[in-house]
Amino acid sequence: MRVLALSSGTSVDAIDVALAELDDADGVVRMRMVAHTERSWPAPLRGRILAALPPAATDLGEVCRLDTEIGQAFAAVGARAIEEWGAVDLVVSHGQTVHHWVEHGTPDGGGDAGDRAGSARGTLQLGSPAWIAARTGRPVIHDLRTADIAAGGQGAPLVSLLDALWLGDRPTAALNIGGIANITLVGDGPVRAGDTGPGNCLLDAAIAAATGYPFDPEGSLAAAGRVDPVALSVLLAEPYYARPLPKSTGRETFDAGYVAATLAAAGVAVPAGNDLFATLTELTVRTVAEAIVRDAPGTERVVVSGGGVRNATLLAGLRSRLSGVVTSDALGLAAEAKEAHMFALLGYLSARGLPGTVPGVDGRRATGARSAVVLGSLTPPAPAPCPTGRVPVHTLVLEEG
Ligand SMILES: Nc1ncnc2c1ncn2[C@@H]1O[C@H](COP(=O)(O)OP(=O)(O)OP(=O)(O)O)[C@@H](O)[C@H]1O
Ligand SMILES: [Mg+2]
Repeated sequence: MRVLALSSGTSVDAIDVALAELDDADGVVRMRMVAHTERSWPAPLRGRILAALPPAATDLGEVCRLDTEIGQAFAAVGARAIEEWGAVDLVVSHGQTVHHWVEHGTPDGGGDAGDRAGSARGTLQLGSPAWIAARTGRPVIHDLRTADIAAGGQGAPLVSLLDALWLGDRPTAALNIGGIANITLVGDGPVRAGDTGPGNCLLDAAIAAATGYPFDPEGSLAAAGRVDPVALSVLLAEPYYARPLPKSTGRETFDAGYVAATLAAAGVAVPAGNDLFATLTELTVRTVAEAIVRDAPGTERVVVSGGGVRNATLLAGLRSRLSGVVTSDALGLAAEAKEAHMFALLGYLSARGLPGTVPGVDGRRATGARSAVVLGSLTPPAPAPCPTGRVPVHTLVLEEG
């Protein structure tokens, strides 16, 4: 099956598009990674997505417009990919996450289990799939996260199935550094996974505010600054970092105002100039490294993917605290293409009616879900079996029940 995957991550940096050919037999799934590229967002649309995210107030009219326009932007990227790479059987669209709802109360704050601190309660990805189906003429699997949340899981990260199948032969931490950073711990007991906290998102926001540029090129600005130990220790006190796996978070916690607000609440000044970038880069290094050391001390290698691999300062920081750090490219999966291919794999499994998560701890899935569920929804719906066949209807007979 030729599967085209479309996704945009928490950085809203680009629309990723990947084409993969998949098949499976006797439990062995084969994925041939045919192509991957990144397409720029139409500039005004990217700006509007960022402007609509927390801490901005919600405007439902704008949410509706974004849902349509993101769907249309994905549709255009998908149609172009099909034109250039050839026909596909299925499109998988992750859409653009605009909110990931995680409870913040105290761990024993009462209420039902779903209200407890750290429980994921909902997640919203915009980009109406109807536009993608209309433009590509192919069925679209979308809304990949909600079924896992409805089964009691975090709904994120969803990469643990790929990591477990790909890297599970020895103690390994798979680390993806996107806007948010996530880890999957495999090869040493049950699979565990979760978001460690900010990847690039706080750094990107600080760089954009100071320079207008979207990120710190190769980590050069952070490299020219010095870590502010007082500000760093205040930021490291964020309770999220101490929470056990599985866990997930997003830009609604680590939003563009988070650093200034957290430091102001502690009466600590925001570091000046490049020192802020150095401090935020070190925050990602420390939270990732400490999570891996705490939760998987036997880790032999750390396989890193995501746009963060291009930040040399970040990577050097990780190498100074963790051994066996390699980029996913070294193992055959391009760092920038991994997430899009992961969605191709999950979409394929969903189309085959197979679950998209792996077993984790205590009889739960690695996402924390109570049961293995097939991820996603299908547009247009698959026809239900019908003994009379599919004749277009022309008359309705209403009967009282
Ligand atoms: N040349 C570079 N130098 C430094 N950082 C870079 C460079 N290129 C990309 N990045 C960083 O990588 C980010 C994009 O990474 P990626 O696409 O993996 O994240 P994402 O789309 O947010 O995904 P996720 O869903 O995993 O959060 C950019 O926002 C930027 O911070
Ligand atoms: Mg991206």
